[in-house]
Amino acid sequence: MRFKWFVLMIIPIYFLACRTTPKEKGYEYFSDMVHTGSKLDKDGKTVIDNKKTTGFEAFDLNVNFTNNITAQKPVMGTIPRNYKLYNFPYRGTFPKIDMVNKVKDAEEAGKTLPANALEGLRSVLSFNNKKKIITIDENAVYERGNRLYHTFCVHCHGEIGSEAPGLLASKGMAGPNLAFPPASVYPAGRLFYVITMGNSIMPSHASQISPDDRWRIVYFIKKEIEKVK
Ligand code: HEC
Repeated sequence: MRFKWFVLMIIPIYFLACRTTPKEKGYEYFSDMVHTGSKLDKDGKTVIDNKKTTGFEAFDLNVNFTNNITAQKPVMGTIPRNYKLYNFPYRGTFPKIDMVNKVKDAEEAGKTLPANALEGLRSVLSFNNKKKIITIDENAVYERGNRLYHTFCVHCHGEIGSEAPGLLASKGMAGPNLAFPPASVYPAGRLFYVITMGNSIMPSHASQISPDDRWRIVYFIKKEIEKVK
């Protein structure tokens, strides 16, 4: 009985927060949670009253941080959700690069990462959705790998197996054609490593291409190499 009365009392309070026009705000029970804090005006000096602001846009000036930036960088060492830890350290980028150890890591990756691109893809996908059954459509993997290769690689490496170098040959950035040794005989894991970490002047693609898409590119490259053989 008491419960019934309690519910009957709560319902009108709940409806107090409603207004007839959608533009008007209702009653705020927890205004601290609605108004996240004071913003700075565009001049960077005038503080806008906290009651008049709701939430922050990514580029709003923010008085809550000493650098006034709303979209703060993630704390060092933060790991994004669904991110699979990768056991090789970053060895720098050209010209500050530890090439000796990078080659060692690449060889190690060739031995320890999945030897087959589909297996690699499966390991990433199953890590991301622990409960689902993973079905992989090889044609779809090939098609996406194809598209990604033609977005991220072809301008430097050219069409796989073709005599013509990539477009960036004139800028001294062209990479070797992947259909010929040594790249053509690298295990899948080593190709994955090179895409992730870059090589000497080839930049790392870790921030642009997700791990599952890197395996799709590896799959595409391996398929194309088979065709050239
Ligand atoms: C800015 C140009 C550039 C882009 C983009 C680029 N590469 Fe490279 N890549 C190079 C150059 C140059 C080399 C050879 C020199 C070096 O080792 O850095 C190379 C080397 C490689 C090697 C051989 C490494 C070795 O140990 O011999 C592989 C494999 C490779 N790239 C794959 C890729 C793939 C896959 C992509 C696309 C995701 C890609 N590259 C994108 C320039 C590029």
